[in-house]
Parts: sequence; C-alpha cells; structure tokens
Amino acid sequence: MRLDTVIARSVADTRGRATIETTLSAGAGTATASVPSGKSTGSHEACELRDADGSVGRAIGNVNGEIRAALQGCDFASADELDALLVALDGTADKSRLGANALLSVSIAAARLFALSEDVPLWKALAKRAGTLPSAPRLYVNVMNGGAHADFKLPFQEYLLVVEGKTSEALPVAREAFAKLGERLGNVPMGDEGGYAPTFATLAEPFEVLAELVQGFPHASIALDAAASELYHDGRYHLLGKAYSADELATLYGSIATQYPLLSIEDPFAEDALGDFARLTATLGEKLLIIGDDLTVTNPARIHTAIEQKAINAVLVKPNQIGTVREAILAVQTTYAAGWQVVASHRSGETADTFIADFAYGVGAYGLKAGGLGQKERVLKYERLLTIEKEDAAS
Ligand code: PGA
Ligand code: ZN
Repeated sequence: MRLDTVIARSVADTRGRATIETTLSAGAGTATASVPSGKSTGSHEACELRDADGSVGRAIGNVNGEIRAALQGCDFASADELDALLVALDGTADKSRLGANALLSVSIAAARLFALSEDVPLWKALAKRAGTLPSAPRLYVNVMNGGAHADFKLPFQEYLLVVEGKTSEALPVAREAFAKLGERLGNVPMGDEGGYAPTFATLAEPFEVLAELVQGFPHASIALDAAASELYHDGRYHLLGKAYSADELATLYGSIATQYPLLSIEDPFAEDALGDFARLTATLGEKLLIIGDDLTVTNPARIHTAIEQKAINAVLVKPNQIGTVREAILAVQTTYAAGWQVVASHRSGETADTFIADFAYGVGAYGLKAGGLGQKERVLKYERLLTIEKEDAAS
C-alpha cells in the first residue's frame, strides 16, 4: 500500500486536554485515529510528548514533519512494516524523541487503513497479525472511581463491575446494574472515567455495596484496580488515613478476596515492587487474576521480567504505554506464551476512538476495561463490541 497523505491535528480528550488525531490516506481509502492519555501513569511508560503548556504541538509537528516525510509516497507491505519503521525513526527506547502519542496515532490509523484495504473488519485484521482467536471480552465496567481519578475520595482507584458473556447479553446487564448502583448511591459526582465518585467511611463499604449489587445479576462479579503506586509514599501504602506495609496490604487483599466475589486485582502494589506482587500471586493467584499495569506498562521486556519472577498472572495492555500496535501485539503474545491472561484497557483521558474494542476482541482478551457508563466516549467502546459481535456472526 502506498501512503498518499499523513495529517495530524489536535482534539480534546474527556478531560478537555489536547491529544493527537491523525488521518492517513491511500488511494480511495482514509483512516483516522486519536490516542488517549493517562493520569495515574506508570513511570516506565513510553513518553507521551507534551509541551510545557500541556498541549501536543510538538507531537503534531513531528507527525506533520518528520513522520510525514518518511511515510508519504512510500509503499508498505504490511502495517507491521510501517510500525517497525516508526520505531526505527524515533530511535529511542522510550519513544521520547517523536513521542509515543505521535507514533501511536499513526500506527492505529495505519492498522485501520490496512484492514480497510484488505476489506476485513479491524478486529479480524488484528487477530491475523497477532495469531490469536477472536472472542468477546468480559466487560470491565468502572462503576466507582477513587484514587487519582476522584481526588482520593476512595483510596483505591477503580471498583469495577465485571460481566461475562456475549456483549449483547452482558451490556444490558451492565447498564441495569450501573443504573441501580446510581439509585443506591444517590446524588454523587462522576469520576474521570465515567463511574460514580462516592465517599465511604470504611474500606469495606464499597465492596459490600458492590457485592450486594452483583448478587442480583447473572455472570456478574467485582474487580479492583488498586493503582497502588499512587498510594505509596515513604515505604508505606496510605489508605483512609492509615499506613500499611506491603504485608499488611496483602492481608487486606486476602480478606477482601475471601469475603467478596472478586475476580481480579490490578496493581496491588507499587510499580517496582516485583517481590510483593510475586508473594501475592503465590497466595491468591489460584483464586483470582493479579494484573500488572504500572508494573508491566505493555512493555514486552518488563512482561518478561514479570514472567521470570512469577509476579502476576495477567497483564493489562494499553497501546499508548508502548507506542505502536505492533508492540502492543507483542505484549499480548508474550503474555499468552506464559499462559497468562490479557485485559485490554482504555485510558482515563479518552477520545471517541474505539480501537481498543477491536483490539480486545481480536486478541481474545479476557476483559476490556473501557470505563463507566456515564460518559459517551466510554460507552462507544462497549457499543463497538456490539457491532463486532454482529460482524463476527456474519463472517
Ligand atoms: P490512567 O488510569 O489511564 O489514568 O493511567 C487507568 C489505570 O490505572 O488502569
Ligand atoms: Zn491501572
């Protein structure tokens, strides 16, 4: 495929911050992609290039300048070949020269454009690239926001409702449960990810509320993203005014997992606490998924280290943590080679781009984290899964 044009511009994300959107064209086909942005970012993530004023002018300039000059008018045999060129062009380990956000906007648009030129749905093209079996991910719906996403009104960052099954059956369950929780909580604000942001006096209360909620729904359970790097200061984890050692926190997770229908815990400890992750996985790993996010940052090398240490048994995959679709697929393949699960994830600052739904379905992810149902940009991802279900049934 010969690329004709490469054009980047600025669009606003759900927090009203600037992010990058890129359109590629080849012959009669055009494809556009925009990239999300995190807030509780891991320090080992690829570099999101931002200017001092918070805008993405330099990243856009890199796409419209150097990247355009390298791609426009060139022939590519595959999206993987194009991604490899992007990585080589940047030339740094953390994508800090051109920006992971600049590269990913081009990489996702290219994935779309190639799928279009091959006349296959995006999820199918991704499955082919990854060598994976497509399937409907569990819906990991953010129902209560805490931590950095809600001014730490709740210590843990995300309390999730997980619904299993075909999306056309799971999404109505999630909608009903989300509405019912809203009635139960009353007039509370919304957090960054479109879930409720209530306040509770005890650590147990949110789990009690959710355990009661899921009882009434089929195939529903609870998940937690502790985002514990955000709670870690001076060697201790701080929750509701009390400081916990890693061992005390592990004991707390153990009792939560025994008392409530918990399916997974993401980032239970700080991003470099490999040993604590490994100890928790040894004790709770049979019972639930211990997911790495800030720990592994979608980086195949960090996932390898986690595998060597038996630190976790599932990996959160966020393409913007690494910067190209090709490397996100490599992260998935590395995870599967260890016999672990993949949960695909959006970011807390999102756009209307639904790539992550195609990615989750295409790689046969265990779950898709796409936020709460109180924000359109989140709902679009779940609705894209509905369309994919129909596309898959028709193919
Ligand atoms: P972020 O949060 O997008 O703000 O990093 C999401 C997460 O921690 O999973
Ligand atoms: Zn997380």
